[in-house]
Amino acid sequence: MTTRIIATGAYAPGQVITNNDLAKIVDTSDEWITQRTGIKERHISSGDNTSVLAINTAKQLLERAGVEAESVDLIIVASVTPDYGTPSLGCMVQKEIGAVNAVAFDVTAACSGFMFALSIADKYIRTGVYNNAIVIGAETLSKIVDWSDRSTCVLFGDGAGGAFVEKSETDGIIKEEIGTKGELYDILTEGYTSCSNAFNGNESGTDPLWYVNMNGREVFKFATKSVVKSVERVLASADVSPDEIAYVVPHQANVRIVEVISNKLKIPYEKFYMNMDRYGNTSSASIPMALNELNERGLVKRGDKILLTGFGGGMTWGTMLVSW
Ligand code: ACO
Repeated sequence: MTTRIIATGAYAPGQVITNNDLAKIVDTSDEWITQRTGIKERHISSGDNTSVLAINTAKQLLERAGVEAESVDLIIVASVTPDYGTPSLGCMVQKEIGAVNAVAFDVTAACSGFMFALSIADKYIRTGVYNNAIVIGAETLSKIVDWSDRSTCVLFGDGAGGAFVEKSETDGIIKEEIGTKGELYDILTEGYTSCSNAFNGNESGTDPLWYVNMNGREVFKFATKSVVKSVERVLASADVSPDEIAYVVPHQANVRIVEVISNKLKIPYEKFYMNMDRYGNTSSASIPMALNELNERGLVKRGDKILLTGFGGGMTWGTMLVSW
């Protein structure tokens, strides 16, 4: 028994911010951002919070999978920018779509979040606990970006993407792995809230560490190393060679990272599906948004072998080999 992706979906807010728009608020240029990252524009929320993006994606997944909400067993949402500490985004999605028989929760693994969520759903389905799941990555990174910091604000965007998965006797997830390296946690952080209360005299106000804080070069090094090793392990354990891969859907952080990964793995660059030029880095939403676009464009056919792979804060990584 395995777990098969039977539908994909995505939702991005309507407001598009170009590199030239950013050059009006920080000292940057379209040329710098395009050359260093490959990003041209990103969608930024005009007020809709992460739950709205996740709910729209979930509704699309139900429609495309042709499944009634009451039949959904499991809802997992990956995010580092939920609306609340509690309730989870999963519970908010459950309410809005009317999935009254499902269990819902969130996971946090930054840009690898969708891979972690899909890995958990796969375990529940493979072991026969549940028959199906809605798995979503959703982010409004615009609310945790310091819009005066040019080294980070040019990189991110808002959006959500997801997959409806169910048990399958044939095609589906072949092999996968997730991993973490906590000793590097401080090279990429966001959303820190200090322990301030009425009895320790701390002042209220936004902590500077609330915003995305990143050592770009260290993240770059980690990304290229961890993804390459992870893909190599997954392919070896499945006894699949790189030239059998139809498409790789990488985390959409930076085209230069993808170039390095493509060279090291000897998988042609053209096989890496990318849409970061139009969406920027949407963290846990990036892989499912790109996968959805690949699927919507009809570029993958039944039985094609595709790789999903990403890295993120934590530090974390995740890779999945799928027979479509
Ligand atoms: N516009 C113009 N100049 C800029 C900008 C900007 N937006 N940002 C930084 N610079 C300047 C710097 O101040 C620096 O100037 P200096 O030489 O006078 O000091 C110069 O450009 C070079 O800065 P670096 O940080 O060394 O630039 P680098 O080539 O490393 O590119 C980047 C930065 C794109 C962040 C790169 O390090 C990178 O891709 N890192 C990977 C991290 C990543 O992709 N993170 C995404 C989020 S994390 C995740 O997805 C898990």
